[in-house]
Amino acid sequence: MPGARFFRTVARMLPYPPLGVRVVTPRLELRGATDDLLARLVPVVRSGGASADPPPWDDPHPFYEPDAEARVHGWLRGVWRGRGTVTAERWRLSFVVLVDGEPVGMQDLIGEEFAVFGTVETSSWVAAEARGRGVGSETRAAALHLAFAGLGAAEALSEAAVDNAGSNRISERLGYARNGTAWATHQGRPVLGQRWRLTRTDWTAHRRDDIELHGVAECRAALHIHR
Ligand SMILES: CC(C)(COP(=O)(O)OP(=O)(O)OC[C@H]1O[C@@H](n2cnc3c(N)ncnc32)[C@H](O)[C@@H]1OP(=O)(O)O)[C@@H](O)C(=O)NCCC(=O)NCCS
Repeated sequence: MPGARFFRTVARMLPYPPLGVRVVTPRLELRGATDDLLARLVPVVRSGGASADPPPWDDPHPFYEPDAEARVHGWLRGVWRGRGTVTAERWRLSFVVLVDGEPVGMQDLIGEEFAVFGTVETSSWVAAEARGRGVGSETRAAALHLAFAGLGAAEALSEAAVDNAGSNRISERLGYARNGTAWATHQGRPVLGQRWRLTRTDWTAHRRDDIELHGVAECRAALHIHR
């Protein structure tokens, strides 16, 4: 595994700093979703391992798509669309989750009018074969550390179908408070979503001291974050 110096050099060389961000926890690592890392996740998406019951939200990833190649292409376009529309006002940063150096899922961090509200949203999936072992919880904790400790967020929001036991449990355990419900569509059908909100104060009460951030200063500068 390359050392910290190697990654610092890569972060300096990268023309697009959000791809140089790394969040390292005792169990896993979030790394900016480069095309090389995405390519290593393709077999999971192709085999259907990114979906679940209940399924994740449709947008931007069409994991419900029955044709494997169309699913892979739609997923990649969704990630690239996020990357291609990043501005200071609106950004979606995608990370690949690595456990023992192997990609097992993705975590997105989304900011809209972040300079004004300081609000981030999170969205994630873990490969079916890697679920139920705490990866989803640690992935969310890593994303929150980046948001609050790295980017200076004021609050984090999350939303999952009311029957998405895993996602809702993660929010509850990490200190979020219930924040109402809202209708959304899954492949055209109405689904009730449970909303969650984690304030900076509540995050501080739950924050961990064993998560490392790398490449954040360059990312903050690229996103014009001054919080
Ligand atoms: C939601 C998801 C990311 C959870 O990942 P995971 O690695 O399985 O989560 P964890 O192992 O950290 O489990 C978190 C908690 O939820 C519970 N949990 C997880 N899956 C569960 C399930 N299907 N039913 C009941 N409880 C479940 C775990 O027991 C654990 O509870 P605990 O903290 O009390 O021990 C994963 O199921 C997934 O990728 N689903 C598809 C995508 C998705 O729905 N994303 C979120 C909404 S868009």
